[in-house]
Amino acid sequence: MVGVSAHVVRVSGSLVELVDLPEAAMFDVVALGERELPGEVVAIEGDRVTVQAYEDTGGLAPGAAAVSRGEPVSARLGPGLLGGVYDGLLRPLRDAGTWLAPGATRYQDDPRQWQFEPSVTAGEQLSAGDRLGSVVDGGPVKVHVLVPPAGGGRVDRVVPAGSYASDAVVATVAGVDVPLTQSWPVRRARPSRERLDTVEPLQTGQRVLDLLYPVARGSSAAVPGGFGTGKTVLLQQIAKWSDADVIVYVGCGERGNEMADVVAELDALDDPRTGERLTRRTVVIANTSNMPMMAREVSIYTGVTVAEYFRDMGHHVVLIADSTSRWAEALREFASRTGALPAEEGYPAGLASALAAFYERAGHVVTLGGSTGSVTIIGAVSPPGGDLTEPVTAHTQRFVRAVWTLDRDLAYARHYPAVAWSGSFSRDAVAVGAWHVRAGDTQWAHRRGRVISLLAEADRLTTLAELVGVEAMPGAERVAMLAGRLLREGVLQQNAASRSDAFCSAAKGAALVDAVLAVVERCGALVDAGVPPATVEALDHGPLLRAREETGPDDADGVAEHMRSMLDRLAELARSEAAP
Ligand SMILES: Nc1ncnc2c1ncn2[C@@H]1O[C@H](COP(=O)(O)OP(=O)(O)OP(=O)(O)O)[C@@H](O)[C@H]1O
Ligand SMILES: [Mg+2]
Repeated sequence: MVGVSAHVVRVSGSLVELVDLPEAAMFDVVALGERELPGEVVAIEGDRVTVQAYEDTGGLAPGAAAVSRGEPVSARLGPGLLGGVYDGLLRPLRDAGTWLAPGATRYQDDPRQWQFEPSVTAGEQLSAGDRLGSVVDGGPVKVHVLVPPAGGGRVDRVVPAGSYASDAVVATVAGVDVPLTQSWPVRRARPSRERLDTVEPLQTGQRVLDLLYPVARGSSAAVPGGFGTGKTVLLQQIAKWSDADVIVYVGCGERGNEMADVVAELDALDDPRTGERLTRRTVVIANTSNMPMMAREVSIYTGVTVAEYFRDMGHHVVLIADSTSRWAEALREFASRTGALPAEEGYPAGLASALAAFYERAGHVVTLGGSTGSVTIIGAVSPPGGDLTEPVTAHTQRFVRAVWTLDRDLAYARHYPAVAWSGSFSRDAVAVGAWHVRAGDTQWAHRRGRVISLLAEADRLTTLAELVGVEAMPGAERVAMLAGRLLREGVLQQNAASRSDAFCSAAKGAALVDAVLAVVERCGALVDAGVPPATVEALDHGPLLRAREETGPDDADGVAEHMRSMLDRLAELARSEAAP
């Protein structure tokens, strides 16, 4: 056994110093003391090894034994992950917010059996990533068992269809046993054959995102927003509605009761895609603030590893991390404990590269087995005091493809989702526009441009109106301000609690924008013809504004009907104004 003679010489909080740990390597997992508390090697100096414990070191004393596991922190990837709630090391939690007994590092207690069906026969030649068979559990997500990334060769043996335990060997390929559950070091990206540069949008069903700041599958997005601006609600909407096969939700450093709420809420959700429980295609990794800091630090890598595992089967996965700021705080706390030289605001110098390493694991790829899959990463950022120049937010904005900034004033005015149209961006917008053209919507980019410029114009004019008074503004400018209001209330706001509004298809979103633009154009013509702007402003725009809630999630025709009744109303107004 490796390192049985190693023992603890010093314990200082979660940092544990050992001597005589032969062949210690950075990031290897070490089991400390009788309870086998897990920890990770973070420094090696001569024969002294420093280990960062993932759990409370209470009771651990000098002289205690330590054993190296001889491998870095790894996730156990296998059937049964879906629907579960785990800690940062992927150990199952019974209830979110509870912490396992210290040292409960063993995974083998999963009593479940899995129905495995082979898809190959002995003698076939396979490469890494090729499918050996599938686990049939009736759930909405097909779980395949693949030749491990380093494997491949002739299939020596494969088990017949039947019921197997989580760690049962189901095949032997080129002399190597392949179990149902395989282990992977979480800090290392799982390999794929190639990155695809073809872009297809991730439909989130959230209009402000899909219409203005879209994110492609396999891309990445950040949601910076001050305290209480609606980050968690927005991420939950994405978890619920986006067109992904699997959702991995990493709750990072949230308060325990909040995390329990998140899990309870996810548990209660029906899956709009399958009609089953949403949790059947969700993996939740919970790291509440009462859990040890280092488990939090590793949790986002664990999350992205789980996401890659499903990607490798050919699924589209969305990884949600809420909040990456809590994760970065773990880095900072760790740096201060180990006496590392702090850089910006106490964060370690490696903050930027750690963030880059995380977001770089997003991707739309051809898997080793030849199918396509994707991991899209969406992370909330909670800048203290809403200061977007602080290091975590500033670095994150460099590494992600889209930024959806939540605005305090919008949230305060109950404009939800409070995504700011100024201050948000998407580096995927042009490519997504090209995709929409191929998909038959040639107007997508034009519509987006119109909406963004109208909103900016309306904002500018509103500021001006505050100075000079609305009455002093020319008619055309008042119509532009009206356009801003109709876009905000009739298109961008979205009611998460409404059955018809919570999700919006691309077609309905486009119809809503087109309806507003048509009405605004008619309003402009009326004002040009001499109708007082105040009359046009005071008109009841209800038919237009209620369209998003009064039509079904994909009902573009219904939206057009609302538009027509609004245009009728305007025609009536024109007639009555023309009458003497
Ligand atoms: N889309 C929405 N529809 C209705 N209410 C919302 C919406 N988004 C946010 N809210 C309201 O704002 C509150 C705070 O939202 P949320 O918890 O998502 O904010 P947060 O940014 O995650 O906060 P924290 O900084 O504490 O993590 C919610 O409890 C809810 O009342
Ligand atoms: Mg939150």
